[in-house]
Amino acid sequence: MVMKLKKLVSVLLVGACVVSLAACGSDKKEKSDDGDKKSKDTLVMATNAEFPPYEFRDGDDVVGIDAEVAQAIADKLGMELKIEDMAFDSIIPAVTSGKADFGAAGLTVTDERKENVDFTDTYAKATQVIMVKEDSKVAGPDDLTGKKIGVQLGTTGDIYAGDIEDAEVERYNKGFEAVQALQQGKIDAVVIDGEPAKEFVKQAEGIKILDEAFTEEEYALAVDKGNEDLLGKINDALNELKDNGKLDEIVDKYINADDAE
Ligand code: ARG
Repeated sequence: MVMKLKKLVSVLLVGACVVSLAACGSDKKEKSDDGDKKSKDTLVMATNAEFPPYEFRDGDDVVGIDAEVAQAIADKLGMELKIEDMAFDSIIPAVTSGKADFGAAGLTVTDERKENVDFTDTYAKATQVIMVKEDSKVAGPDDLTGKKIGVQLGTTGDIYAGDIEDAEVERYNKGFEAVQALQQGKIDAVVIDGEPAKEFVKQAEGIKILDEAFTEEEYALAVDKGNEDLLGKINDALNELKDNGKLDEIVDKYINADDAE
């Protein structure tokens, strides 16, 4: 009778483990699987590859300034870089949940974001610009009152557009989708970062960038709040790249070289 009971208990235990197999084995699986790899020597970068020249796709690869800077940092730390391409507004949640180690996405340093993440030293200056149709009457920020403005969801452009009096903000998943909507006359203007704007006008006929920049901002990488160890390591590597000219070299490769303006 006792034996039978023991057997029953062990059968039940095996059963329980079979039912929750996914949970039981997931720890080990994560490391051996290619899918969601995150081990000690892999540095996972969260980005949104819709933002040339900082990050964009070349076939299956994510390339651009951020990808190369991150690769150089990973090399310095002796780690393997893994890039995860996701929606822009998923980047900070990915970093705070530990799904990614850091975010690199032309991320503007803002006080609001600082409540959730820690920013590294900055590595680029940026502006928000206004894009309009070539024949548009909108000539500067003051003309945006009451207009339909397209932005990429969750970006600083989204925040600024929301501050414009009576403006109607149309949010797109990709910056270029906003530019296409502008071409089609669905919206009156796009507020977006200056460098991708320059790339997008090359691809979108009939669109221009207004001279008057909207705001000035700075980009940095983001790590989880309180992750001082990684923050320190990335800053050391980043500052080395600034000092030895490697950062300029990467930026020149994507920006200054073919842009005379
Ligand atoms: N600089 C802007 C921001 O931080 C836009 C960044 C968009 N980046 C991207 N990879 N789509 O909100």
